[in-house]
Amino acid sequence: MSEPRQILVTSALPYANGSIHLGHMLEYIQTDMWVRFQKLRGNQCIYVCADDAHGSAIMLRAEKEGITPEQLIANVQAEHSGDFADFLVDFDNFHSTHSEENRELSGLIYTRLREAGHIATRSVTQYFDPEKGMFLADRFIKGTCPKCAAEDQYGDNCEKCGATYAPTELKNPKSAISGATPVLRDSQHFFFKLPDFQAMLQQWTRSGTLQEAVANKLAEWLDSGLQEWDISRDAPYFGFEIPGEPGKYFYVWLDAPIGYMASFKNLCARRPELDFDAFWKEDSTAELYHFIGKDIVNFHALFWPAMLEGAGFRKPTAVNVHGYLTVNGAKMSKSRGTFIKARTYLDHLQPEYLRYYYAAKLGRGVDDLDLNLEDFVQKVNSDLVGKVVNIASRCAGFIHKGNEGVMVAGDAAPELTEAFLAAAPSIAEAYESRDFARAMREIMALADRANAWIAEKAPWSLAKQEGKQDEVQAICAQGVNLFRQLVIFLKPVLPLLAADAEAFLNVAPLTWNDHQSRLENHRLNAFKALMSRIEPAKVEAMVAASKEDLLAAAGQAQAPAGNGELTKEPLSAEIEFDTFAAVDLRVALIVKAEAVAGADKLLQLTLDIGDERRNVFSGIKSAYPDPSKLEGRLTMMVANLKPRKMRFGVSEGMVMAAGPGGEEIYLLSPDSGAKPGQRIK
Ligand code: MSP
Ligand code: ZN
Repeated sequence: MSEPRQILVTSALPYANGSIHLGHMLEYIQTDMWVRFQKLRGNQCIYVCADDAHGSAIMLRAEKEGITPEQLIANVQAEHSGDFADFLVDFDNFHSTHSEENRELSGLIYTRLREAGHIATRSVTQYFDPEKGMFLADRFIKGTCPKCAAEDQYGDNCEKCGATYAPTELKNPKSAISGATPVLRDSQHFFFKLPDFQAMLQQWTRSGTLQEAVANKLAEWLDSGLQEWDISRDAPYFGFEIPGEPGKYFYVWLDAPIGYMASFKNLCARRPELDFDAFWKEDSTAELYHFIGKDIVNFHALFWPAMLEGAGFRKPTAVNVHGYLTVNGAKMSKSRGTFIKARTYLDHLQPEYLRYYYAAKLGRGVDDLDLNLEDFVQKVNSDLVGKVVNIASRCAGFIHKGNEGVMVAGDAAPELTEAFLAAAPSIAEAYESRDFARAMREIMALADRANAWIAEKAPWSLAKQEGKQDEVQAICAQGVNLFRQLVIFLKPVLPLLAADAEAFLNVAPLTWNDHQSRLENHRLNAFKALMSRIEPAKVEAMVAASKEDLLAAAGQAQAPAGNGELTKEPLSAEIEFDTFAAVDLRVALIVKAEAVAGADKLLQLTLDIGDERRNVFSGIKSAYPDPSKLEGRLTMMVANLKPRKMRFGVSEGMVMAAGPGGEEIYLLSPDSGAKPGQRIK
């Protein structure tokens, strides 16, 4: 046996401002399965994570809820920890980036970078909210698009015409936080000089640390030249103050990856056998792996290795990137009930069903993974219940009835024993390389062979015949031995099933190498059903409950998306009745609806308003991918809006829709019976 490896593994640190959903779970389950495999093999493998607790989104949300950010992140950490534990994600430590360890390590890394000349300072001019007294990130500024004049657009891009621009180009800018008109203000910012690490990164990204598709993507950035990275934010900000720079804070993405180190350091204090430096010193021989989603590659494969190199620490052995989760072939959607929170799933279904389904579909690439709910039910029932558990339930009864629960010695199917042994290295290699889908295929192929053999031997028929008792016992003992091997191979994916099987088998916790031995003259415990079928009704109930989550959230602030996002649109100023009465609102019949060539977000609508027809361009395509379905439907329009010339033609009015955007755009409709052209009063 070779020396056990020392391995430190991380998953990305979830933001402490929202709930965990099944998209997140893809990553934590993927990582957990890999870690459990390493532990099963006898390697020293440590899995750490933490909540990503800093940033203005968290500060603003806490303010709105009337609690301190510390209270908010403590509540969220408790929620997240519960979700992970119930999905059997077994962190060695789940910490927080708002911790003393992280403050110290962030200060240390920054100081070392500064002393080595990798930090620059210069003045940056930015919008400032004079009412709120804070600088505004682009997403906190709204105004009129400088290109198409669409109102209520964010500070960096227009959802109507797709233009991107600087916030200073917006017309009539407003703070999305207070509604105040922002003013331009200068402030000193700190920059990490990423270009200093160009050569190192060119080499590092091509040294087997990344999947090829990821390395190719990064090469585009590297070849076009790296930019310095702004790592400071001005007060008020929820984060760590930069040492020696009062009022200046580290940008959340500076201290977030350092949170990996901090969580490990926090663990070291509890586990004396772990040596922080042995894992993090420049020439460490321990392995370090980060599992992340494809949206945060630049932070992990450019900024992070550069920071580590510049501060004299080791760099990651590899950054393992996965794709995004879709549900039923589309982006998770609140209106369809496919934006499923971890807790909503757990309220209806067993965690191992999802763990197995993800394993069965997860390859080593960065492709998106689809959770097709019908396929999910079918696959789990057929593979786990129909193939794996079935072997034990077919054999156990005969051993209990015919031999007082004792498995006889002897190998009734040497060719199968041989095949199971021979498959193990390949299954292990698939796990090691994160090709869980291949591991599951190979394991299920073994289960098929075992089932076919038992069916052919038909112990249930033999049991009815005189003098066949020994044969029945030999077959069933073999069946249970094959089942035991399958359980070992599946243990990284199905730890609960494995624990229940160990109880039935009456054995100590199984390790990988146990697949080489067999049980002989061994007494079993009573057999209890190890896993039940998924009832499709439970899946339907989960989808229905996910729609209820949406209803519960309606009226409340919209869930903040990611880092630094807007939480709630401020109410507009009051208007006089006359102003309202001046708006000519009409019932309109959608006569024709079609996509506009060359415009990602626009639909061209032909509207019948009684005595005339109007041509209207509307940025609602993301919610209506098949626009012809809108034809024949009634909606409401502003009929006296000044015609506007757009790139694709003149828009003569505006239809009315609600919602945050994307798939969640809801076109308003009158009750049935309304006639095109009727005025809304
Ligand atoms: N806080 C940052 C990570 C900091 S790491 C130093 C962050 N948080 S997150 O909560 O938005 O995402 C956490 C992880 O979940 C990321 O790796 C992200 O890619 C992953 N996923 C979030 N939504 C996902 C899907 N729909 N599908 C698959 N993974 C997804 O990013
Ligand atoms: Zn625009």
